[in-house]
Amino acid sequence: MEPKRSSYDAAYAEWQADPGAFWEEAARGLDWGRRWDRVFDPDLGAFGQWFAGGQINVCHNALDRHVDGGRGDQAALIWDSPAAHDKRVLTYLELRDATAKLAGALAARGVGRGDRVVIYMPMVPEAVMAMLACARIGAIHSVVFGGFAAAELAKRIEDAQPVLVISASCGIEPGRLVAYKPMLDEAIEMSAHKPAHCLILQRPMLAAALLAGRDADFTEAVAAAEPHACVPVLATDPLYILYTSGTTGKPKGVVRDCGGYAVALHWTMSMIYGVSPGDVYWCASDVGWVVGHSYIVYGPLLIGCTSVMYEGKPVGTPDAGAFWRVCADYGVRVLFTAPTALRAIRQRDPEMALRAQYDLSKLDALFLAGERCDPPTAIWAAAHLGKPVVDHWWQTETGWPITAGFRGYGLFPANPGAGGRPCPGYDVQVLDDVGTVLSRGESGNLCIRLPMPPGCAPTLWGSDALYRQAYLADFPGWYRTGDAGLIDADGDVSIMGRTDDIINVAGHRLSTGQMEEVLARHPDVAECAVVGAADSLKGQAPLGLVVLKAGVEREHAAICRELVAMVRAAIGPVAAFKDAIVVPRMPKTRSGKILRASIRRLADGQPANAPPTIEDPSALDDVKAALDERV
Ligand code: COA
Ligand code: AMP
Repeated sequence: MEPKRSSYDAAYAEWQADPGAFWEEAARGLDWGRRWDRVFDPDLGAFGQWFAGGQINVCHNALDRHVDGGRGDQAALIWDSPAAHDKRVLTYLELRDATAKLAGALAARGVGRGDRVVIYMPMVPEAVMAMLACARIGAIHSVVFGGFAAAELAKRIEDAQPVLVISASCGIEPGRLVAYKPMLDEAIEMSAHKPAHCLILQRPMLAAALLAGRDADFTEAVAAAEPHACVPVLATDPLYILYTSGTTGKPKGVVRDCGGYAVALHWTMSMIYGVSPGDVYWCASDVGWVVGHSYIVYGPLLIGCTSVMYEGKPVGTPDAGAFWRVCADYGVRVLFTAPTALRAIRQRDPEMALRAQYDLSKLDALFLAGERCDPPTAIWAAAHLGKPVVDHWWQTETGWPITAGFRGYGLFPANPGAGGRPCPGYDVQVLDDVGTVLSRGESGNLCIRLPMPPGCAPTLWGSDALYRQAYLADFPGWYRTGDAGLIDADGDVSIMGRTDDIINVAGHRLSTGQMEEVLARHPDVAECAVVGAADSLKGQAPLGLVVLKAGVEREHAAICRELVAMVRAAIGPVAAFKDAIVVPRMPKTRSGKILRASIRRLADGQPANAPPTIEDPSALDDVKAALDERV
């Protein structure tokens, strides 16, 4: 049963009056193996857990429930790959059967409830099957984005300790094949933990060498397997771990539970995105990111939509009309993408002329997230598409939007640059640095009053304490989002940027601290800093500043090239680290803190606005000179 539709204000008030009853009502839309004992148990995990004592299987709810309910012949997944020049449609029945066989192949290799499986795959349907097959048998998947280097994959393997890894021979980026298998081999070599098994999908464009005893061909393994039924797991059991950038080189393993996540996603599909079973929904992200987990895989399938999976780019595959072509070909109702993709389209097709070739009559709305959307881009998209453009704000940790516009309630906050109103479940407030709640219009730390709603990460992998320290310690009783912003007079929330060392490059969350750790390893580097400079396409782009050790006489350009190569090798191409400069000394405060905000302002072509505590103002002049020289 779908939640009843009322106005946004009524729904928010309903949630405020009785959060437990609100989520119990939302939970009715799903099949449960056993009803929960307590809708929220405050004594479990880092801040409490939802649907404690309940049993549910997310794969059953995403696939079998729809097959049993008569949707077996409906398309569950449409794979469209301009990269591979290929397309494929899988019905709910076909996806369920393929997933059940893969689950059997995993079980035959000893994978069971609570075991981890790392998935390192490009955007192919087998990646979706892999995630759902884990959910089917109660294993915990951890998907690693393909743009990360072997060293990053190794960190995740070492931390998650998977029994098995599912990967592919290659991914496809414009103009090149990305050979995944050698990277996987290198990562396993680097990791102290060695998975017992690897299943490798051989793609036709590149064959991978398999290691006898450890590796098996994905297709052969599935063909030989017996289908496995869904096993009941606790609603509070982990469904997946998704590693995301923290402030250091060690990524944080964000844990997602089964029950709360399924309830929250199911609710968002109708109330935020306004779609119904049978509608076509397209999230143009990657399964390696949280957006892909929630809205390529779990959300659309939980409600019985057809989900589009796209292996291509917004531009260049083959042109800036690619998104409109996909929307028209499949009758997409809701498209969800990152502002960067729109900026890329706008750069190539400023008048959106290519849109005229396609019938977009079925498209109802465009949702944006992943980074702040600059108002001109949002206004441009709305004007040329003639559809509502809805920004919504969320994080890997929350798994679903914190603020949004609500198609289900007919509420589209018309405030470009803002991220919409708080979703029921979230009491969002702005706090100053000592924890005082600020008034409307005042900027500060965006925080959420505890408890977090269902679906939000209940903990970090292996450590409630780390979770508490990372998110709950600064403001007791609150979850600190790490974003700064304000709530305006209408109640719309604007997100200004991060309060920590995280930057957002092309909608990808990256840690400047992690890049600094890599630069510091260069033998000629004495000191370094990385900041996120404004970028007209990617929103932000990393810029590295280094001070060389005394006596280093080498050509600066050569050192900078080495630094760029080091970050690409250590973190991966996704870091998009292409810019480094040498400065004679680092601008600092008298207490030794690097003036990153002033450096960033200079990189953006603005005055540095140095604080009075600056040690030596001329250090900023040197930075400006180095930046000017580079231009
Ligand atoms: N596997 C391997 N490499 C990958 C990769 C993957 N899955 N995804 C990206 N890369 C590589 C790219 O090829 C690029 O390599 P290069 O330096 O050799 O050119 C590098 O990582 C940086 O990628 P990106 O920052 O995405 O830049 P791009 O020029 O390839 O593409 C856009 C630019 C705008 C088209 C692209 O960033 C985009 O579509 N962004 C939308 C982001 C998004 O969906 N975010 C999800 C959160 S909602
Ligand atoms: P990720 O965990 O990769 O989803 O990144 C989360 C971060 O991206 C948030 O903390 C914000 O800094 C940023 N972000 C996501 N969505 C938005 C949005 N709609 N507006 C502004 N920033 C956003």
